[in-house]
Amino acid sequence: MTRVLVVGSGIAGLWAAIRAAEHGADVTIVTKSALGDGATGWAQGGIAAAIFAGDAPSRHAADTLAAGAGLGDPEAVRMLTDDGPARIRDLIRFGVAFDRDESGLARGLEAAHSRARILHAGGDRTGAAIRSALIATVRRRGLRVLEHTTLVDLVVEQGRVVGIRAIAEADADGEADGAREFRADAVVLATGGTGCLYRHTTNPDVATGDGVAVAARAGAAVADLEFVQFHPTALAVPGTPLISEAVRGEGAVLRDADGRRFLLEVDPRAELAPRDVVARAVWRRMAQQDGAPVVLDATHLGAERLATRFPGIDAACRGAGFDWSREPVPVVPAAHYAMGGVVTDLTGRTSLPGLWAVGEVARTGVHGANRLASNSLLEGAIFGERAARDLVAAISAPASAPAPAPVAAPVQAGGGTIRRADHDASIHGVADRISAEVDGRETGVVDRAELQRLMWDHVGLERDASGLAAASARLDGWRAPEPVDRRTAEDRNLLDLARLTVAAALARTESIGAHTRRDATSAAAPEREAA
Ligand code: SIN
Repeated sequence: MTRVLVVGSGIAGLWAAIRAAEHGADVTIVTKSALGDGATGWAQGGIAAAIFAGDAPSRHAADTLAAGAGLGDPEAVRMLTDDGPARIRDLIRFGVAFDRDESGLARGLEAAHSRARILHAGGDRTGAAIRSALIATVRRRGLRVLEHTTLVDLVVEQGRVVGIRAIAEADADGEADGAREFRADAVVLATGGTGCLYRHTTNPDVATGDGVAVAARAGAAVADLEFVQFHPTALAVPGTPLISEAVRGEGAVLRDADGRRFLLEVDPRAELAPRDVVARAVWRRMAQQDGAPVVLDATHLGAERLATRFPGIDAACRGAGFDWSREPVPVVPAAHYAMGGVVTDLTGRTSLPGLWAVGEVARTGVHGANRLASNSLLEGAIFGERAARDLVAAISAPASAPAPAPVAAPVQAGGGTIRRADHDASIHGVADRISAEVDGRETGVVDRAELQRLMWDHVGLERDASGLAAASARLDGWRAPEPVDRRTAEDRNLLDLARLTVAAALARTESIGAHTRRDATSAAAPEREAA
């Protein structure tokens, strides 16, 4: 038996765990909350794949690369879109009941897709349907699961990851055991995203970037952290979910305080322009109207259609006091998705032997500077599958087999600002500071709410050198807490990740994709040519 630790329990982690176990590995899933308590279960819009007549993986790939502002890795994107249909069939076998209409599987349209290719389940409860099916599979097959157990650090010996240090949540008597070491032949990071870096986010509270922070501390290559996607239409009521892009795919429009469809002035694709374009336009229009939210107008769809196609959003709107079939609802941008993360190859291998990364924590190259809608669940399934196959083969190989070449940090041509040397210098410079003693400017242990405000104000939808420098100085002044429980482990990770993100945003002086510099030095157009 081989021992595999999968850290995290969204689609990517559950998929990797199930498949690795099928291939004979002895698998343990470690997750810091209850099983499945991540962003996967919150996904509304759906999962994209070129499975319908009139579509092709090559079209899906072209849309993915265009949305990513040309920074996606064509080989990774081709693999994502080619493998998509097979993973959809797997999901159906796992028991996901995708919605159907008179022509068979129903298909939705979302922004920047040239074809309607979004499969959905339960109307707008696609992620919850996938999560239930995968959890049922995990339970049925008896995989070992450690819930409420927080990753603290990777254990690295002689350059190889050989396990993790993790803390189990305090028991009913309030007794925490402290950090324990769990040894493994392979560790898979599937810890999800980083939305909790920001004051406003669509993410659940587990999204504290743990995987990126622990991997960076252990010396793994990380990249593209400046590319944070902001969803344009979070309902402007704290604690409520986002309003899926699929609603705009069905024809809803955005209006400003004067009732104007302002996106028509910004991009010919209007509400169906790539997400970064729409989010930035919303942000700028809000600034012009003294911070007042814009509104999403779905009234023409009618009460019955809204309630059947979007039951979850319908309930959320009504719960917040809005009848969205009669009145437009206020919406604002919120941090949604991390395009960057731990650098991997096409099998999820990182630059550290023994360590794989899958799902949002990974920087696989498929998203470039801005993720295409509904490609995230797909990425989790595709890379969960590929990593499982690869790691089982790797850990079953005889010790005498030649070690594979480590994954190198990506070199992005054309962007003109991140060359390998710059990238390494900025990332390693910050990584070195992470555990270093803080100098005389120390202002105490990091305050999470203040960090989130700082990131929102200076490292949000629009950035510039002076704001980033101010953020950097403030972050430098803080000290990480000793990681003695989930909260302190998360705060330490958020601080490290914020520093890395600011360094990456400072290093990229152009505007591209989701990274907008008000003081951009290159001619990269803030709004790209319409496809
Ligand atoms: C949405 O439904 O708008 C979000 C889906 C995604 O992030 O791809």
